[in-house]
Amino acid sequence: MSEGEYSPGLRGVIAGETSISDVRHGVHYRGYAIEELAEHATFEEVAYLLLHEDLPTAEQLGAFRKRLRKHQSVPHDFMDFMRKIPDQAPLMDVMQTCASVLAHWDPDVDDNSHEANVRKSEKLLVQMPVILAARHRLLQSKEPVAPDKHLSLAGNLVWMLLREKPSPQMERAMDMSLILYAEHEFNASTFTARVVCSTLSDLHSAISAAIGALKGPLHGGANQRVMAELRAAHEADDAQQWVLQALAERRRVMGFGHRVYQQGDPRAAFLKTFCRQWAEEFGDTSLEDTAEQVEAVMAEQKGLRPNLDWPSARLYYYLGL
Ligand code: COA
Repeated sequence: MSEGEYSPGLRGVIAGETSISDVRHGVHYRGYAIEELAEHATFEEVAYLLLHEDLPTAEQLGAFRKRLRKHQSVPHDFMDFMRKIPDQAPLMDVMQTCASVLAHWDPDVDDNSHEANVRKSEKLLVQMPVILAARHRLLQSKEPVAPDKHLSLAGNLVWMLLREKPSPQMERAMDMSLILYAEHEFNASTFTARVVCSTLSDLHSAISAAIGALKGPLHGGANQRVMAELRAAHEADDAQQWVLQALAERRRVMGFGHRVYQQGDPRAAFLKTFCRQWAEEFGDTSLEDTAEQVEAVMAEQKGLRPNLDWPSARLYYYLGL
């Protein structure tokens, strides 16, 4: 590409470098294949890997968990603020606002040293799930559930959302999902965060802006819509006909296509296997069958393969979310 040439969607433009992840030949976090991490690691270990550059020793993991537990609650006044947010506010807007408001209680807010940024990241890692779960419950007129200091990050998320002690299977599913979504090189929201940081603004501002980018239906917002579409296809007399109709109306089917993975998202292929196994254990694979029918039409008609949001929607559904 020559200097000054316009590249729609920044295709082919190298805007920065990162050693955190690589999506060129499968997805790798700091050199580890994500399939290997999703299979054998917990989200806590992966979060440590991303923040601290290597997988933790048992001692480092213990100290990390201790720090996370210390930050696990949000300020009392903050919960009062959450109770005042109108019901109609979309969840992603609430997450964005709260990431920004949390900064007001963080004494490190203006410290942009690496150490302070890691401290702030570790706090957000435990505070954001508390907010997500509290919002979910407040909308159902239920009281927020306090985190349980004996549970992992994944286990706690299930606990705080459902007020149900997670089974090992539920905890595993949540771990897997959090690991697969944890990092993706230069996607639109990460790019947004880096633009904000590049002005020497602060971490909370960057995260809040990134959530704004993530909210869009062509990025993270797609996964909220996937389940509704899958359900519509499932309830239609003929799932394949439902997709053909959507394509005839020139609608985008959420959960398909990817800017980078033209031949299919490796994370989606990995999670699909897990979803089918889980559905088989439940004794109802009908959603998996519908998903496969939709996939076949999308591949045949548009050459498009599922992205991670496609199987994730089923995973959350099986989790009871
Ligand atoms: N359903 C139907 N058609 C789709 C489609 C989808 N999910 N994704 C892309 N297309 C079509 C477009 O309509 C366009 O067709 P046209 O050339 O006839 O106009 C063509 O494929 C290229 O679209 P474009 O947006 O340029 O492709 P892209 O590779 O840059 O887009 C996405 C990537 C993710 C934005 C796009 O595939 C999409 O919108 N997917 C649905 C949303 C989603 O699942 N997002 C989560 C991403 S992880």
